[in-house]
Amino acid sequence: MSDEGTKWVKEKDGIYWPTEKMKEKAFVSDPEIYKEAKENPKKFWEQKAKELIDWFVEDWDEIQKWDPPFFKWFEGGKTNLSYNCVDRHIEDKKNKPAIVWEPEPVDEEQRILTYGDLHEEVQKFANVLKELGVEKGDAVTFWMPMIPETAIAALACQRIGAWHSIVYTAFSPEAVRKRMDDAGSDILITADGFYRRGKVVELKDNINEALDKVGADKCLVVNRADADPEMVDGRDHFLEDVKDGVEASCEPEELDAEDIGFLLYTSGTTGKPKGVKHSVGGYLVQAALTMKWVFDFHEDDMFFSTADIGWITGHTYTLYGPLIHGGTTLWYEGSPDHPNLERWWEIIEENEVNQFYTAPTALRMLIKHGKDLPDKYDLSTLRVLGSVGEPIDPETWQWYFEKVGGGRCPIVDTYWQTETGGILLTSLPGMGPFVPGVAGVPLPPVNYDILDKDGEPVDKGAVVIKKPFSPGMLRGVYKNPDKYKEEYWSRYGDRIYFSGDEGIKTEYEVGGQRLLKIVGRMDDLLEVAGHRLGTAEIEDAVQMVDEVAEVAVVGKPHDVKGEVPALFTILVDGAEPSEELKKKIVKSVRQEVGPVATPGEIFFVEECPETESGKVIRRFLRSLLEDEELGDMRTAKNPDCLRDLAEKVGYEGPQDIPDYNC
Ligand code: PRX
Repeated sequence: MSDEGTKWVKEKDGIYWPTEKMKEKAFVSDPEIYKEAKENPKKFWEQKAKELIDWFVEDWDEIQKWDPPFFKWFEGGKTNLSYNCVDRHIEDKKNKPAIVWEPEPVDEEQRILTYGDLHEEVQKFANVLKELGVEKGDAVTFWMPMIPETAIAALACQRIGAWHSIVYTAFSPEAVRKRMDDAGSDILITADGFYRRGKVVELKDNINEALDKVGADKCLVVNRADADPEMVDGRDHFLEDVKDGVEASCEPEELDAEDIGFLLYTSGTTGKPKGVKHSVGGYLVQAALTMKWVFDFHEDDMFFSTADIGWITGHTYTLYGPLIHGGTTLWYEGSPDHPNLERWWEIIEENEVNQFYTAPTALRMLIKHGKDLPDKYDLSTLRVLGSVGEPIDPETWQWYFEKVGGGRCPIVDTYWQTETGGILLTSLPGMGPFVPGVAGVPLPPVNYDILDKDGEPVDKGAVVIKKPFSPGMLRGVYKNPDKYKEEYWSRYGDRIYFSGDEGIKTEYEVGGQRLLKIVGRMDDLLEVAGHRLGTAEIEDAVQMVDEVAEVAVVGKPHDVKGEVPALFTILVDGAEPSEELKKKIVKSVRQEVGPVATPGEIFFVEECPETESGKVIRRFLRSLLEDEELGDMRTAKNPDCLRDLAEKVGYEGPQDIPDYNC
């Protein structure tokens, strides 16, 4: 293995190994841990649960109960996330910054919340929720930007055992309404607005109609941008008004490890987003362990995750992970390109950030428009860099490693999902190896495999997770156990979790396992700029336009965003393609799903390739967009349409498309 002081050294074939310095500092550096943990996985997790978390009752019926495909961890144990993130640090870290908030406007002062401040604010907010009638087990929907009150509100829900259901602000009011409806949530927490690219994005005034439709009882509004929103008497309250006068003390609920901690809606393979259920105890243990080991997170570290709270990464690593360990998390309100493309580098230098966690799409954007800008800043406090949400291509990896990490920092390419609650798979900082474009191996003691469609192990195929699992895995889909079984536990039976991703077992090894490269989704999900979207949701929105008869949505490769939604649209008789119609379609998608799903390309076509039973063969559409071989076109009942489609999309692939009409 190579070692040159603090610089990482590349071995043959572009593999990087940790330096001695990193190995010494890291919490784990001996690959034996993978084997040891597997010898007694339940013991391993029990030990971590006791070591990393504070429990009110540290005693459980069984460490794990497994009734495939349902499982429980640490049931009978009592704990609370808010207690673990706040109260337990109060004694010795009262004046230490817990959250450092960087507003987008550069002339606005940074806000720092110490653990003492957080303790006070979270208790007050919890009492506000109680006054508004929120009880344990109620779903509280958030449509909140990256401001400190969002963190406070989430911790307040945890404190009283209410479930937050946080919706990303780039989803539309209609998307919020659907999620409130599904969760049976009658309270929304939002803000008047927030700053993005120098402008105020209004929230409250945009959500009024959706609140009426869903029949919400209460709406709590944080004043962030002085946007002076319309307020409905009796239903809408400014936080400032209701907070005034509430008691400052609220004891955390002693929740069972198996109580629900929160819901998070995510796209599935059918139209309706699924409410993924996470537990209190298991989630907490997994968040704690992965935060510590994957990011080599020590309690004096300053962690900067750019992930918005509306996504699982925002939950586990922008919010909970750093606080569980009594560290400091940096929250940034706005966009990386405001007021210029140096904003993140400036934030890292000014705040002496130690770990930086972001998505490849953002890095590609920064490379494209400002690849040398990190050189202007002192980024030497950084120790670990993270990547998440989509595969990181080797060029982007190399730039991140050299320009941002100065050749000193490992890049943890963390593979996981909303459903897994925390990181599942990566190379660890003290162990490596790090191979650009290759994610790594599961955290001990989790098992993965790659299977073909018959369930046989192969080198390239479906990524599955096998026993022993981690305690942070989802506990189900809210109000829909069938969906849970069907989506994850049916392809290979009820003992093997199907991730929906395709992967490759590479030749590299650590701890007796081969490192995994993630190829991408095998189902109808898109990863647009690292954001997960269902094609079915977008199709439903397009279908609402009167002129549209049918539509098929697939991902089109994009050099910055990874992929963008491309629409193959068939119009009803008499409707004509036009720019106006394209605008109408875009409007409908933005309204029903949100700006995050804005179509990248709209093709008006006569027909799509279909199977005998009338199902659109998306594989052909994707190959046309990616200029790839299409394979045997006669598997479609109407192969003749492919020629027309090839012309429309400007196909330049290797395969000749015959004219089946002749
Ligand atoms: O396709 C995989 C991709 O993101 C999907 C999960 O999306 P979501 O639930 O929104 O969670 C994203 C953040 C954890 C996965 O099924 N994905 C996530 N991380 C990676 C990735 N693809 C490749 N490499 C990764 N590191």
